[in-house]
Amino acid sequence: MSFPDFSPTNPNVQWQRFCDLNWFHGGLGIWLDISRMQFNSTELEELTPSVVKAFQAISELEGGAIANKDENRQVGHYWLRSPDLAPDIESRENLVRQIEDIETFGSDVLTGVIKTPNGEKFTDVLWIGIGGSGLGPLLMVKALQEFGSGLSFHFLDNVDPLGINKTLQSIGDKLKTTLVVTVSKSGGTPEPKLAMEKSRSYLEKVGGQWPGQSVAITMINSKLDNLAKSENWLKRFDLPDWVGGRTSITSAVGLLPGALIGINIRQFLSGAAQMDEASRVPSLRNNPSALLAASWFLAGNGVGKRDMVVLPYRDQLEVFSRYLQQLVMESLGKRNNRDGEIVSQGISVYGNKGSTDQHAYVQQLRDGLDNFFVNFVEILEDSNRDNSLPKDKLGDYLSGFLQGTRSALTQGSRNNLTITMVRLDPPRLGALIALFERAVGLYAEMINVNAYDQPGVEAGKLAAAEILDLQEQIKELLKDGVPRTVDQISKALGKDSNESIFLILRHLCFNDKSFSSEGDWQFPATLRFSKQN
Ligand code: PA5
Repeated sequence: MSFPDFSPTNPNVQWQRFCDLNWFHGGLGIWLDISRMQFNSTELEELTPSVVKAFQAISELEGGAIANKDENRQVGHYWLRSPDLAPDIESRENLVRQIEDIETFGSDVLTGVIKTPNGEKFTDVLWIGIGGSGLGPLLMVKALQEFGSGLSFHFLDNVDPLGINKTLQSIGDKLKTTLVVTVSKSGGTPEPKLAMEKSRSYLEKVGGQWPGQSVAITMINSKLDNLAKSENWLKRFDLPDWVGGRTSITSAVGLLPGALIGINIRQFLSGAAQMDEASRVPSLRNNPSALLAASWFLAGNGVGKRDMVVLPYRDQLEVFSRYLQQLVMESLGKRNNRDGEIVSQGISVYGNKGSTDQHAYVQQLRDGLDNFFVNFVEILEDSNRDNSLPKDKLGDYLSGFLQGTRSALTQGSRNNLTITMVRLDPPRLGALIALFERAVGLYAEMINVNAYDQPGVEAGKLAAAEILDLQEQIKELLKDGVPRTVDQISKALGKDSNESIFLILRHLCFNDKSFSSEGDWQFPATLRFSKQN
């Protein structure tokens, strides 16, 4: 069915496009409106063959194909919310068992059946994990925790010494009654490992007992798993190899925080499963994830020419743009396509929330560079779930601001689309996440990149390890107390990395009293560095 061409100013045309392109899911109460993206009927139609191919690829992936050929593994995050789809019985049974296990553990912690080793009720959660092991849990808590419900959450997702100290100090004595959850799929990522060591020393200083307060979420037999086993930690949850970090929110990684804030995790999974189901419809015009992927494709000519600006009009979804930033950019941002050709693909994602951002960068969106499309997220119900708060006009204003910005952008011929949900609750958050996960999967197929590896992340981990190794070599060399220039150090170590050596030494000089420099920082090559013992 064709629809009229986009018009920035003609309200009748806009209305007709709105009606023609409207997608709605009655069970979930979710709408998708792509009518203000500027493609025409023919352009959308022409994408059909590539979308049909993408449907086929996703269906093979759901059937258990090796989707991530680089890492020779299956990609099964869709099975997490529909265990029946898992290709083998063992995975199916494990998934069902783990959901029950998480539910029981969460409820036992909340009701005090499971207590701290000192016999007290747990009050707080310290969540340690980075990337997919940190962002999903953060989103769950920010989006779904209701006032006064569940435990208080604190997150460590970095090795910033000041940040870690501040968080641990803010918990203070309550570390004794804090459940510490360390998440690392690989079990060897340095950031969570270091954060864990630091937290452990704080916790033990205030009289806590680490093993009896600790939970690990990781792959079986990883370093973290082995540590947890050998020390008999309070609980371990398994992360299957076929769950990627950025798509792990419907695994224990997202379910455990859900259970610990007291939400119904089955409803969360059911919302995701319903969106998966809707996104299996093999028709571009009736499949929300395909419509989303096609809109991104057409807005950016299939090469990511336009950035995705994520603007949810709800404080609870403030983290959503960061969450999507990882999901989209780590999945699609690839140098090579699957045939090994250099394609330098990706879509840049940024955003925060409305209406706040209207008073920041939205000025440029309306009047400046046209290098983006906006993804609005609208929540219809203004009050909380039980409707106990009196109706006030704040929500009317928020809605008015969204509509106003949507109109202003449209009048300026700026691409925008809107996802509307009746309310923000566990099933709808699950559905929203599934919608984007599947759109990313389809888009990746359309541009022929592997959405499930992250060579750039791995390269960063390796490069950091090399720098730390170089730092140790510099320390060893300078132990003799002889002042040396960067060039002399570089030659003595047989390296060709003057700049790295300078950067390491500059950091050491400002943090380790035994290191000093002679000369002028303006002229790095003339400085002489030494170490006093
Ligand atoms: O999405 C990903 O795969 C990454 O961002 C990982 O989540 C991140 O690097 C953390 O890895 P791990 O969970 O193994 O510690």
